[in-house]
This record gives sequence, C-alpha cells and structure tokens, in this order.
Amino acid sequence: MGNIGAAITGVSGYVPDYVLTNRELEQMVETNDEWIRSRTGISERRILKGEGMGSAYLGTQAVKALLEKTGTRPEEVDGLICATITPEMFFPSTANLICDNLGIRGAFSFDLAAACSGFLYALETGSNFIRAGNQKKIIVVGADKMSSIVNYNDRNTCILFGDGAGAVLLEASEGENIIKDTIIRSDGVGKDLIYIKGGGSAYPPTHETIELGYHHFFQDGRSVFKYAVKSMADVAVEIMKRNNLSGEDIAYLVPHQANMRIIEATANRMAVNMDKVTVNIQKYGNTTAATIPLCLWEWEDKFKKGDNIILAAFGGGFTWGSIYLKWAY
Ligand SMILES: CC(C)(COP(=O)(O)OP(=O)(O)OC[C@H]1O[C@@H](n2cnc3c(N)ncnc32)[C@H](O)[C@@H]1OP(=O)(O)O)[C@@H](O)C(=O)NCCC(=O)NCCS
Repeated sequence: MGNIGAAITGVSGYVPDYVLTNRELEQMVETNDEWIRSRTGISERRILKGEGMGSAYLGTQAVKALLEKTGTRPEEVDGLICATITPEMFFPSTANLICDNLGIRGAFSFDLAAACSGFLYALETGSNFIRAGNQKKIIVVGADKMSSIVNYNDRNTCILFGDGAGAVLLEASEGENIIKDTIIRSDGVGKDLIYIKGGGSAYPPTHETIELGYHHFFQDGRSVFKYAVKSMADVAVEIMKRNNLSGEDIAYLVPHQANMRIIEATANRMAVNMDKVTVNIQKYGNTTAATIPLCLWEWEDKFKKGDNIILAAFGGGFTWGSIYLKWAY
C-alpha cells in the first residue's frame, strides 16, 4: 500500500437553541452592545440550558448528525476523540459517553484537553492513528459547554463565550486531498494568564474554593490578546511558507473564533482577503474546541474538492497551532 493519509470526509455541528444576546448581558453586568461588538465582534452566543445537560449532549448531537449524513454505521467507527476543557464529568471521558449514547461499542475513545487549540490537537492525533495504518474511520469532536465555567458576574470574560460542538469524520485515503501538514505547539508561560484554578487535584471543590471562585474561568484578556495575535499569525504564516503557499493559493482560512481583531490580524499577516475567512463569532462567540469544526460545518457547501484550507488556533496553556489540508469532497 502507498502512503496513507487522513481525509476529512464529513462534518457536522450542533449549537443549542437558547440565544444569549449582548442586550441580555447588559442586564447582567456593566457592559453594552457597542463595546462588545467593537472589541470582540460578538453579538450573541448559544447557551445549553437544562439540569444535567453537559458537553456529552452537545457532542452527541454533532456526532449523531455526522453519522447520519455520512451514512456511517456505529460499528464502522474505529475511534472517537473529543477535545474539551469542560468534560461532562471527570470520568468516564466525554468521548466514552458520546460513544455510549450513539451505540458505538468497542471503538477506542478518549478526551484531549488543549483548550481553544483542542480541535487541532485532536485532528492531528486522529490523523496519526489513520496514518499508522490500523484505523480506517475516526471521529474527531470539539465540544465545550463554556457556560458551565464562566462567571456571569465578570464582564471581562462572560461576554466572550458560548456553548457548541462540531465533529468531523476522518478516513484513510491514498489520494491528494488529505491533511497535508500540521504544527502544534505549547508554552506554559500562559499558566498564570488564563486558567481555572479549582476543581482539580490541587484544589478539589470545597465550600472555601467555591467562595473564592476557583471553579470559574479566569483570563488576563489584554495579555492573552497580545500572545494570541502574534502566535496564531506566526504559525499560520510558517505553515504557508513551508508548503510554498501564498495568500492567493489559499481558498479559505478557518481560524479559531476568539476575537474578530485576532482573526483579522491573522488574515492580514497571511495576505488572505477577509472574504476567504470563515467568521461566525458574531453568532456563537468563542466555543473553545468547537469553533473550528462549527466553521467547517457552516462553510462546507462553499468548499470545493482540492481547496487549500488553513486552520489556525490559539488557546489556554498556552497552546497554538495550524493545519494545512486539501478539502476532500
Ligand atoms: C477580552 C478582550 C475582548 C478585552 O478587550 P481589550 O480591548 O483588551 O480591553 P481591556 O481588557 O484592555 O479593557 C479595556 C477597558 O474596558 C473595560 N471592560 C472590560 N470588559 C468590559 C465589558 N464587557 N464591557 C465594558 N467594558 C469592559 C475594562 O475594565 C477596561 O477598563 P479600564 O480601561 O477602565 O481598565 C480582549 O483582550 C481579548 O479578546 N483577549 C483575548 C481573548 C482570547 O483570545 N482568549 C483566549 C483564548 S482563545
């Protein structure tokens, strides 16, 4: 057999029905629609309501739709990887729970945590299982219920995030239209700038940790912004250069949706026109591991077989990366 690559052969997404608008946030914290839109590009985001509803529900909806649209039977799935920083529970993994919900039995499944870069990390991990030759069909999911960790009294962060999930089917291919190249990186310099302190083994939940708000997402937005702008653009430009791609060669840039200004700066550095950049931040905000597959899902109809597509992300850790792929269908 020749060289085996991993091709994305299907994509699906899910966002919950409830729409949290900037206007509603104005009633919750001292902020306003104009500030949020001009600083972030966000107008509204989706929130999963309902007791006991978590990331496994979001991921299950996305994967269910993916199986249906690609005509994939549960028993054909060799493995499922779920990128999330808001797992349904400590264990079983959210990936395991999604498989159980959909009757996927005997496939390997695990979660992967790389914050907003999680989907890129998971896509590369899934691709490597396929390249190794033993697995034929792997599902990669990004699912985050960010509303479960956001402090809705903190205007610095509560305006940014939403809930959602997206999933892709990866299949073995000997053709050209595969995942061509990946760069994924991390640097712990971000550990004091964006984190959740409590709930893990260092500070398990107690009355005191709850009172101190250790279970909430914290971010030094201004500092993270500076790292994000530079790192996401640097890595996207690096992957273009080493694949001899100019801005004109790129059909679409699919960036992580954290802030419109970060997206524009990345496109600008890559010399890619904004009409070739997927943007849905205005509707969904930052859904962490779900932003990139949600964009793939919404732009699927526009992509053509053989299109050069660049994915790029930056997130907590810090983690960041870029993937160059040729669209397969
Ligand atoms: C969070 C973010 C939108 C804030 O935008 P910013 O332009 O950096 O704004 P600043 O944090 O400098 O705050 C500017 C002022 O607005 C205020 N402000 C913050 N949030 C506000 C809100 N929701 N409404 C109104 N004012 C707000 C601040 O208190 C500050 O006031 P001050 O100047 O009196 O201190 C931006 O920093 C960002 O997107 N950061 C990176 C996000 C990111 O990439 N996250 C990472 C994971 S992917």
